[in-house]
Amino acid sequence: MHVHAYEKIWLALAVVLILLLIGSVTYGAVGPGVAMVADGQDTIDPEALDEDDRFADPGVEQVGENAYEASVVAYQFNFDPDPIVVPAHSEVTFLVTSPDVIHGFQVVGTNANTMVVPGEVAEITVEVGEPREYGIVCNEYCGAAHHGMEGTLQVVPEDEYEAEHGGDDE
Ligand code: CUA
Repeated sequence: MHVHAYEKIWLALAVVLILLLIGSVTYGAVGPGVAMVADGQDTIDPEALDEDDRFADPGVEQVGENAYEASVVAYQFNFDPDPIVVPAHSEVTFLVTSPDVIHGFQVVGTNANTMVVPGEVAEITVEVGEPREYGIVCNEYCGAAHHGMEGTLQVVPEDEYEAEHGGDDE
């Protein structure tokens, strides 16, 4: 069977389009900064957050030379802690959970945006740069004061953070 040249071109284009489609879907699912609520995710008893090391006293902890872990409780209708204070030019991994209903956790202006489900620990990592302030919003309807559920992420200069948190001595 003879296949015309232009048919071959269309066939090749179709294959390329299919590959592009698969590529973009894959990128959307596993690309940088994209987090999904997945099976096998860290689970937790939402009734007993105060018995969990991370969430009994939520806050920011240094976990590596330039890496910090921020445990955050999203509840009706606030984030704890508020503000979340981290040093500039660091990698911050947020661990977020809820004791009551489903909330959202979006750090406006970054790629951090996740659903917070009671019983699960949402994990999302953000590289922060220069000192500045970011707003944090809940983007899942969670009750009467949902629209007012806001928090703050404060990125402060490294020396300021060190001064307040005692650097490695803590
Ligand atoms: Cu919390 Cu909406």
